[in-house]
Amino acid sequence: METRMRIRARLAISVDGFVTTPTGWPAHTADPAFVSGESHGIREFLVGCEAALMGRTTFEPALSNDRWPWPGLDVFVLGSQLPPGTPSDVVADSDPARLLERIRATNRGGDVHLIGGPRTINAFRVLGALDTLELVVVPLLFGAGLRLTPALSPDAGLTFESTRPLPGGSVEIVYSCHADRATLPPRPASQTSPMTGA
Ligand SMILES: NC(=O)c1ccc[n+]([C@@H]2O[C@H](COP(=O)([O-])OP(=O)(O)OC[C@H]3O[C@@H](n4cnc5c(N)ncnc54)[C@H](OP(=O)(O)O)[C@@H]3O)[C@@H](O)[C@H]2O)c1
Repeated sequence: METRMRIRARLAISVDGFVTTPTGWPAHTADPAFVSGESHGIREFLVGCEAALMGRTTFEPALSNDRWPWPGLDVFVLGSQLPPGTPSDVVADSDPARLLERIRATNRGGDVHLIGGPRTINAFRVLGALDTLELVVVPLLFGAGLRLTPALSPDAGLTFESTRPLPGGSVEIVYSCHADRATLPPRPASQTSPMTGA
């Protein structure tokens, strides 16, 4: 049976819709349950993945991390320049379509974890290459931070696939992303039109 790689955007989000804390760190890192590389279901998620894909803004902090966050994964970065100290096997390209071709050319059948951020997720959505949006809702309200939209276009269509409660009180929700969203109605269907009374 032919296996096709899937590009799976998976990122954490607060209950009030922010993917970063007010100081700009990924949402799950503020959760008391956070353990780098272990918590929030990441181990199970990575079982089917062979590559990590992200934007330059998301990639840069990894270089000063205590541990390399993507051991055993091929790493692809969307960006025009990489910071000094980037390992030589990290593949970077400033053009999303070209980077997609490079990912496909080396793919061995495993999935690609599209880590973020929202701009890079949208760049692959525009190419029709985004297979799933997988949100890990952490049990926190931030009040401020970076939102998923509008960098990820609100036109993205979501079809529910699954949900999973995670230790520590987070919830993972998986949506497939193969259609655009229908235009939102101007009012609830239960409301009659003020103009026609219909
Ligand atoms: N909650 C989570 O799980 C999670 C996960 C990942 C990231 N984050 C957060 O997300 C934030 C960053 O998100 P972001 O959306 O601002 O940045 P990003 O997607 O990580 O990176 C943006 C960079 O990627 C390149 N890029 C993006 N779209 C492009 C396009 N269409 N064409 C060409 N290049 C493109 C550009 O690089 P150049 O400038 O080099 O050209 C751009 O500056 C960070 O604060 C990070 O902490 C959160």
